[in-house]
Amino acid sequence: MKLEVHKLDAFYGRAQILFGVTLKVAAGEALALLGRNGAGKSTMLRAILGLVAARRGRVVLDGRDISGMATGRIVRRGLGWVPEDRRIFTDLSVEENLEIGRQPPRAGVPHWTVERLFSLFPNLAEVRRRPAGQISGGEQQMLTISRTLMGNPCVIMLDEPSEGLAPLIVERMAVAVTEMKREGLGVLLAEQNLTFSRAVSDRATIIEKGRIRFEGTLECLLADEAVARAYLAV
Ligand SMILES: Nc1ncnc2c1ncn2[C@@H]1O[C@H](COP(=O)(O)OP(=O)(O)O)[C@@H](O)[C@H]1O
Ligand SMILES: [Mg+2]
Repeated sequence: MKLEVHKLDAFYGRAQILFGVTLKVAAGEALALLGRNGAGKSTMLRAILGLVAARRGRVVLDGRDISGMATGRIVRRGLGWVPEDRRIFTDLSVEENLEIGRQPPRAGVPHWTVERLFSLFPNLAEVRRRPAGQISGGEQQMLTISRTLMGNPCVIMLDEPSEGLAPLIVERMAVAVTEMKREGLGVLLAEQNLTFSRAVSDRATIIEKGRIRFEGTLECLLADEAVARAYLAV
């Protein structure tokens, strides 16, 4: 397993947000972490990264216990994160934004170069010299993902990457995520978009109010309308 999270609890102040959430992501696999707005998906990713100070539980990345480690170290050990808000440098060009994410190659994980990322996201190649503030929202999302990949992660966590994107761009995104999996990356995908999730994910975990309500394959989930209706916005 590339990423194992065991019984994670997380708190903001005195409010408990996550209750014993356990999940695993293998190399070359995408796990969809599904749930409605406010279910705790983003908190889960932030807690895994050590960005939520108050948490309990165990997080193991590529066989190493990273619970309690500082966020910077966790990222340098190969955990990539693409937050909900696209954090690009609007005055810098697309290529310059990519350079900011560059990390040395890592043994046993895919090694990304700017040219390889441009073949993963052909749209970006066309705007490579443009200031990132002047490209479309879909291109900015692709840029954020690409910049994270420049760090050569072994696991990438994507927080609602399809949100607000046109259907054609969402399809492009699904092709790219599938390609990342083929390269051997583990993908943890926090999503509300079931169509996008089913296009790229192998298994799903549904959380509601910070508790797991469903775990299984996407086929099982899609066959069970009651589950989707109860815990997802469908
Ligand atoms: N910084 C914060 N401080 C206090 N409460 C927060 C904070 N961020 C999120 N929450 C609360 O935590 C819960 C889970 O939020 P979040 O993880 O963002 O859900 P999701 O990503 O599934 O929409 C929500 O009730 C939200 O209001
Ligand atoms: Mg969220």
